[in-house]
Amino acid sequence: MQQDAPFHGLWRNARLATMRPGEGNALGIVEHGAVAMRDGRIVFAGPEAALPSAEAAEVVDCGGRWITPGLIDCHTHLVHGGHRAAEFEQRLAGASYEEIARAGGGILGTVRATRAAGEDGLIATALPRLDALIAEGVTMVEVKSGYGLTLDAERAQLRAARALEGARSVSVRTSFLGAHAVPPEYRGDAEGYVSLLCEEMLPALHAEGLVDAVDAFAETIAFTPAQVARLFRAARALGLPVKLHADQLSDGGGAALAAQWGALSADHLEHANEAGVAAMARAGTVAVLLPGAFYMLRESVAPLVALMRQHGVPMAVATDCNPGTSPMTSILLAMNMAATLFRLTVEECLLGTTREAARALGRLDEVGTLEAGKWCDLAIWNVETPAELVYRLGFNPLHRRVRRGQ
Ligand code: NIG
Ligand code: FE
Repeated sequence: MQQDAPFHGLWRNARLATMRPGEGNALGIVEHGAVAMRDGRIVFAGPEAALPSAEAAEVVDCGGRWITPGLIDCHTHLVHGGHRAAEFEQRLAGASYEEIARAGGGILGTVRATRAAGEDGLIATALPRLDALIAEGVTMVEVKSGYGLTLDAERAQLRAARALEGARSVSVRTSFLGAHAVPPEYRGDAEGYVSLLCEEMLPALHAEGLVDAVDAFAETIAFTPAQVARLFRAARALGLPVKLHADQLSDGGGAALAAQWGALSADHLEHANEAGVAAMARAGTVAVLLPGAFYMLRESVAPLVALMRQHGVPMAVATDCNPGTSPMTSILLAMNMAATLFRLTVEECLLGTTREAARALGRLDEVGTLEAGKWCDLAIWNVETPAELVYRLGFNPLHRRVRRGQ
């Protein structure tokens, strides 16, 4: 700690949920805390009494409010064209998600709308959704492609995702999800489409700096484990981390497949089996739980949360914001649903949208906890206890959001 230079910012008279492990309680709580910032980074987060100096260009008295790390939504399909309200009505009337998909609706309906929207149109419709997340203290959001399914249309989606970071004060991490569905041009030739993904689309989009990670949808209505493995091999050759939509609708061995490839995360996991969970624990693969999709599809089989806990699988929680299975733009509601529907504890929900969400994006070194050296991304809350963030439905107690010290 440099004693001489004043801080650029100081948030004092606060209660901190640092999310640091090993502080004696799950949330790393510090009463009478302060956070000091220089050049957008945290230089101190701890008891105010231990502050090396109180000299700062800007001092904010938090009035005893709670500070958490800025929230992280680590699984979204935020950038897409159109909506699927009519499909929602069809499902309410009894049609299943798989039936609609096999009939050329579902994801492919959004593919048509996304291709028609163009990059500017995609940015324009994504911004209000992003603003809803930001209003709840989100400072980092993952955004997937996967509704273009041609080189040009996937590029437009990923460029739109990158543009969001310039349009708002938020960090965006992109995932290339070209393996989301077999596009109409390749109907009956999934192998041919996977070749296109591996040989042309992924290398080109990676070369353009548009891809932070590679994702795929392993499912009977999407891609087989062997096809996913081909894609992951191509990702590995480019040095890109992978993640997987795994075992959402059926047990396809997705959890074990993700673990085998050292995936950052395996997501959904409603139908994952115990061997898969154990493999994830060994590989350090994060389970990203998406209760919004579970709720919207009125699923009855929940992920094996107790086993994940027992095996020590890190658990994250995200909105899965997408027009089909989770048209949800509330990370606070996602936490509430993870608790009520999946039986996560309040602490697991809060860690799941901060530290473990950062881990799921491979960004734990720079965000996710209140720790010296990380970006000064903060959410300051009008709550008496952090549990209120999980407990309420449809109420937003955010007081202020800070990203990179601003
Ligand atoms: O995360 N599972 C696959 N992908 C999305 C849904 C996509 C859609 O229906 O448009 C999901 O649930
Ligand atoms: Fe998803």
